[in-house]
Amino acid sequence: MARRILIVDDEQGIRGALGQLLEFEGYEVRAVANAVDGIFEYQRFNPHLVFLDVKMAGIDGVEALKKIKEIDAGAIVVMISGHATIQTAVEATQLGAYDILEKPLDTDRILVTLRNALQHLDLHEENARLKETIQSRYEIVGRSYAIRAVIDKIDRVAKTPARVLITGENGTGKELVARAIHQQSTRASGPFVEVNCAAIPSELIESELFGHMKGSFTGAVADRAGKFEQAHTGTIFLDEVGDMSLAAQAKVLRVLQDGVVTRIGGAKSIEVDVRVLSATNKNLETEITEGRFREDLYYRLNVVPIHIPALRERREDIPLLVAHFIAVLTTREGIAPRTITPDAVDRLAHLEWPGNVRELRNTIERLLILSAGPRISADDIARLVGHRDVDQVGLGSLLDCQTFEEFKHAAERAFLLAKLREYDWNVSETARALDMPRSNLYKKIERYSLTREAVA
Ligand SMILES: Nc1ncnc2c1ncn2[C@@H]1O[C@H](COP(=O)(O)OP(=O)(O)OP(=O)(O)O)[C@@H](O)[C@H]1O
Ligand SMILES: [Mg+2]
Repeated sequence: MARRILIVDDEQGIRGALGQLLEFEGYEVRAVANAVDGIFEYQRFNPHLVFLDVKMAGIDGVEALKKIKEIDAGAIVVMISGHATIQTAVEATQLGAYDILEKPLDTDRILVTLRNALQHLDLHEENARLKETIQSRYEIVGRSYAIRAVIDKIDRVAKTPARVLITGENGTGKELVARAIHQQSTRASGPFVEVNCAAIPSELIESELFGHMKGSFTGAVADRAGKFEQAHTGTIFLDEVGDMSLAAQAKVLRVLQDGVVTRIGGAKSIEVDVRVLSATNKNLETEITEGRFREDLYYRLNVVPIHIPALRERREDIPLLVAHFIAVLTTREGIAPRTITPDAVDRLAHLEWPGNVRELRNTIERLLILSAGPRISADDIARLVGHRDVDQVGLGSLLDCQTFEEFKHAAERAFLLAKLREYDWNVSETARALDMPRSNLYKKIERYSLTREAVA
């Protein structure tokens, strides 16, 4: 079945040339000269993809994009932009445009964009084929403008020695990006050493990072190299760097300045050749203003910033991620093969995903295991992920608890669920209301598998 393409451009030449090319490639094409007709045609013609000119008399392309997205949040819209309007076009990607084509239009680029954009439509029949093609480099899956910008930045920065600070909400793929940078770097054959600064108690972090000498404190029963030493000639990844104590920050700063570490209780400085990558889901600028993070360290870590947007800001990646996780889980992880219907994918694409890609992956795993038929259906999603009574936090389940520990667990879970609902899943606001660091709340959300649709 031919795919339908709508062209909205006030230049006759573009409509003609682009239309001809697409028809030649076997697409069914309709072309209109202004935004009003475009919005109208969108509803009547129901195209798979729209090419939309940024600059048009009357309603411009950005306004038209907003309208089309209101009509159909899943619309795939590629902006056509002249050189002068490229900034506006980039802004349009934040409003959900799939991509930008710059004038003069390049035939190859048009066709590649089209093929990429339309690929997920065949999702349900094509898990097997997609498995081969969607896995982009380092398995960072996604074709949204935002994720391609991330991949592009990785490519450019990996080969340099630059320090990179990766930011993004919980589960957006920060560690994945850090590993990709290491793999692509000249240090790939050296070690990649991860330190989760939030998981290590503050009294142990210095010993963990810099090592210690036997007897330097209670429990130091032997000499031990720290993570910086272990990462020599490779990469150290300071995960959740925003949770590091000020004392440890001061020492890390010294390592970055001097390139040497001293073990706790040790006398000599040891030279280390280490590239530092770090990540956080905190806003370090706020941490600095509030005196919890050193500004001088921030500037040293944040030479190149990479921000990974939340999944809800790049919903167009969801179908690809769904296909990817189904492929991975049913081949590598030995779960029985199943596919998924387009309706089900569509439902998943409209959920909120406070736990981002990790939550999506866990959800797919649950669906693969629990759904009944050979294809995960929209009904399965309603049943297994779908909407329940929002007031139901399942306090009744507290009565089923056998031990006090279980009870505490269930009670905290129910409490957090109620609070998150009260603040409509705005994690920052909920965390503020609970006077709890946002990162802690994210951890609890994950620990308790809390989702919008969770029941206790
Ligand atoms: N673009 C992506 N393509 C494929 N898999 C992804 C992508 N982004 C994240 N994932 C997967 O989602 C999970 C979470 O990613 P990761 O651990 O890198 O996130 P994170 O930002 O470090 O999370 P946290 O803040 O909780 O530490 C992993 O299983 C990872 O492989
Ligand atoms: Mg992480």
